[in-house]
Amino acid sequence: MTQITDNDARAIEELRARLGSRLTIVGHHYQREEAIRHCDIRGDSLELARRVPGIDADHIVFCGVYFMAESAALLAREGQQVLLPDHGADCVMAQMTPAALLDRVLGRLTASGRKLIPLAYVNTSLAVKAVVGRYGGAVCTSANAEKMLNWAFRQGDGVFFLPDKNLARNTARKLGITGRDTHILDVRRAGDAADLDAADKAALVLWPGLCAIHARFNTGLIEAARQADPSCKVIVHPECSPEVVRASDGAGSTSYIIDYVRNAPDGSHIYVGTEINLVERLAREQAGRLRVEPLRASACSNMAKITPENLRRTLESIVDGTAVPVTVPQEDAAPAKAALERMLEACA
Ligand code: 13P
Ligand code: SF4
Repeated sequence: MTQITDNDARAIEELRARLGSRLTIVGHHYQREEAIRHCDIRGDSLELARRVPGIDADHIVFCGVYFMAESAALLAREGQQVLLPDHGADCVMAQMTPAALLDRVLGRLTASGRKLIPLAYVNTSLAVKAVVGRYGGAVCTSANAEKMLNWAFRQGDGVFFLPDKNLARNTARKLGITGRDTHILDVRRAGDAADLDAADKAALVLWPGLCAIHARFNTGLIEAARQADPSCKVIVHPECSPEVVRASDGAGSTSYIIDYVRNAPDGSHIYVGTEINLVERLAREQAGRLRVEPLRASACSNMAKITPENLRRTLESIVDGTAVPVTVPQEDAAPAKAALERMLEACA
């Protein structure tokens, strides 16, 4: 296995050298070491979305999951190709919001004339971003959720946050919005089970989605960590439940987590509640200076679908002209781009 990986790594570097400035490889912090080591740009969802419009290469290879590559394809220039080494690398949370269902539910929630502004976490399909864009809404990431929630409240008389109910509640708490002002929508039976009355009274309506990888962290793990070392720090991603975020010492995007660890004083002991590849990378990077440990080993199987083998095959397909790019449906391009650009402008 190591031999295959070494051969792939060598082949990838040869192909990168051959393609030169025609190629840029970007990767999310949750990528395995064997993939991210080949990336020209690494980042959290916000940084990656921000960097794409500035890339000059003809081919942008995205080491991440489908919604990230779709956003990149939307922000890419005319003639640029965005490639994802495995088109089956989807985000489980993004799959929790089918676009047609969202459209129907939003139609019902706004039928009374209420100006309810949809705010979509970037972990959504392009079709969902298009629905959000058509209703005057925007996209946000975990790095700017607070700013974008404030933005959304200024645009209308309520906000509909989707799909991550945890990120929504963790962000709402920072703005002083309590459970009483919040309603988690029942989206069963094609939206017919929704309590429209309760939704109408709530300032913040939530889609009932979450990330299964971050749902594995619980307060029992934090208590055990603190018992083992009372001086330890615990930091988590805001996709964790509000109980976990409240019990931790800090919560933020993957870039926040990286900065927290890198800026921690020598000798610190930090437990991190997020995807295991990032935690292990930080532990290796800081070995000898800090102790970085996972709160629990929780892996995103979709992020793991990008391998040195399929990255190599993707680069080969660019060279031989058979690459299959990520496409953007014509009818969704303008409204989805509007939703993304509202975020980029609000957070410029
Ligand atoms: P970040 O935006 O913090 O990188 O997170 C993306 C993600 O999918 C977390 O699960
Ligand atoms: Fe989606 Fe969760 Fe994986 Fe992030 S960690 S890509 S939210 S399934």
